[in-house]
Amino acid sequence: MRIEIITIFPKMFEPVLNESIIKRAQAKGKVRFCIHDLRDYTDDKHRKVDDRPFGGGSGMLLCAQPIFKAVEKIKSKNKRNKYSVILLCPQGKKLTQKISTDISKRKNIILICGHYEGVDERVRQSLADEEISIGDYVLTGGELPAMVLIDSVVRLIPGVLGDKNSLNFESFEGNLLEHPHYTRPANFRDISVPEVLLSGDHKMIEAWRKRESLKRTQERRPDLLKKSREEK
Ligand SMILES: C[S@@+](CC[C@H](N)C(=O)[O-])C[C@H]1O[C@@H](n2cnc3c(N)ncnc32)[C@H](O)[C@@H]1O
Repeated sequence: MRIEIITIFPKMFEPVLNESIIKRAQAKGKVRFCIHDLRDYTDDKHRKVDDRPFGGGSGMLLCAQPIFKAVEKIKSKNKRNKYSVILLCPQGKKLTQKISTDISKRKNIILICGHYEGVDERVRQSLADEEISIGDYVLTGGELPAMVLIDSVVRLIPGVLGDKNSLNFESFEGNLLEHPHYTRPANFRDISVPEVLLSGDHKMIEAWRKRESLKRTQERRPDLLKKSREEK
């Protein structure tokens, strides 16, 4: 997968993309990142990329011109590739595991990070294929949301996670939360690990995990179970 990121803060991405699983995914050739500084695409001689909103009001907006130019240039350099253009936006579709799974199957994506009061509406209207929000709160810019999306997507690309971080069963799969986990010691500060996990009986362990997963979902996220029933 190739991920192109358009931002006014390219340096924000370096520490995140060069650590842990995302770093390893690049080393394995599973993902490639290309970070574009929006200022490199402006026609303004002072490298300005923002302006005041028509009609007044506080704050600045990222202009349409450099964003269109960046996306068009990326697309024209890789004409044979089909790109999905994703605008990070608090008004977009809320990111879910299902959406991340869907994005993880794509070959090329372009992420547009807004800033200030956001982006000129024409970016939404005529450039972005979809808008994604990471939750009902407003952040300063689209950089952290882009990194959240990248992290959730990259770990789903086949071959990215090794055994230690496997995707066997994780929360939100089948609309369930994952069961509890314990590691050594079996007794810590008088709190013991459930006996069944020490039994070595894999069938019983599996049944316990399923029960706990259901119980946990019922307690914490009954909405997921409701969704599951509606989907059937
Ligand atoms: C301060 S926000 C703009 C908020 C906008 N004025 C509004 O009320 O909808 C600036 C940028 O941060 C990003 N952003 C902020 N919160 C976000 C969220 N929850 N999900 C995705 N992107 C977000 C977007 O790229 C947005 O253009």
